Amino acid sequence: MIITKLDIETIRQDFPILKRKVNGYPLVYLDNAATSQTPKQVIDVIVDYYTRYNANIHRGVHTLSQEATDAYENARIKVQKHINAAEPYEIIYTSGTTDSINLVANGFTSFLKNGDEILVSAMEHHSNIVPWQMLCERTGAILKVIPMNHEGELLIEEYAKLLSSSTKLVVCNHVSNALGTINPIEKIISLAHEVEAAVLIDGAQAAPHIKIDVQKLNADFYTISAHKICGPTGVGVLYGKEEWLSKLPPYQGGGEMIAEVTFEKTTYADLPHKFEAGTPNVCGGIAFGAALDYMNSLGYEAIARYEKELLEYATKELTSINGLKIYGTSVHKTSVISFNIEGIHPYDIGAILDKLGIAVRTGHHCAQPVMDYFKVPGTVRASFSFYNTKSEVDILVEGVKKAKQMLS
Ligand code: ALA
Repeated sequence: MIITKLDIETIRQDFPILKRKVNGYPLVYLDNAATSQTPKQVIDVIVDYYTRYNANIHRGVHTLSQEATDAYENARIKVQKHINAAEPYEIIYTSGTTDSINLVANGFTSFLKNGDEILVSAMEHHSNIVPWQMLCERTGAILKVIPMNHEGELLIEEYAKLLSSSTKLVVCNHVSNALGTINPIEKIISLAHEVEAAVLIDGAQAAPHIKIDVQKLNADFYTISAHKICGPTGVGVLYGKEEWLSKLPPYQGGGEMIAEVTFEKTTYADLPHKFEAGTPNVCGGIAFGAALDYMNSLGYEAIARYEKELLEYATKELTSINGLKIYGTSVHKTSVISFNIEGIHPYDIGAILDKLGIAVRTGHHCAQPVMDYFKVPGTVRASFSFYNTKSEVDILVEGVKKAKQMLS
């Protein structure tokens, strides 16, 4: 496959927000793991929707409703093709990864009994911990943790030992939001399937960096949020294998998810509508499709190669700062760098960087167990996208040096 080189300066023209100033400095946006920025190609689709064909879907005979329905369903097919799902109805629109995980966790209530086990990795976001704890409370199932090492890598041999006939579910992120580690999910999935456990992969942090093939991975469930991948907030998908989605009960009741309603009995709609109660985020779904078009127009191989360059450069430059420690040092990483400077609170560094127009995330990154493992209250996290540049890395490094000088 031919890997073209990205023309970053031209790509940056697609992102109007990158032209703004923050506190008098040009914005250096390095909080992409929290949310990515939106290219004008996606913004235009949003404006076009509200300007020309804003309507409710699957409900009206009128032209606008038909146009909105077609665009929304077409976007579902774009997602299906993007992740190579077997069928469009295996793609359930949700409000994002958290919603997708809660949908599955609720559905599993009727499948689990006292003493069944759910394995969860040590490096999960709270959204892939708390719904399972709530499921355990409802069912008497037990949550067990797949441990990790100091590089921020899962211990696969320990994981294999935890698997047994009691394991009903394994849940793990594809990429850690706090550390950037790319987990060996093919191995994790195949080992889980040996004991007939279902696997849910939180793909929120992987989708912006890695081309996903759910059939090749053989994932039972896979979740994505549009806003991490150049799309809008408030929309995402749950991918589920048909065999699982057809037996999973609906998550929410309401309009659109039914086949027939009487006061005596309701029957449910077929997939995917069984899981899509109420008026959905129509514009968001359509814009998600446009975001995937945009990502694919750049090409994932080119994106990955460029982001790797940025990661290596930033890692080298940041580690040259005395007292700076990086958390998450696996060689299998996306472009995320979590770090601290000895004796300085991450929040203080983040606040000084903001004064210089540099946006990073500070704190526990909704992954408190990861912070507890490394015995830190939080970290500074710089997360890079394909529209970031080496000069922005230089600005970050200078900013961190300045913060260190001011706070030491
Ligand atoms: N999950 C997002 C992050 O890691 C919000 O910042």
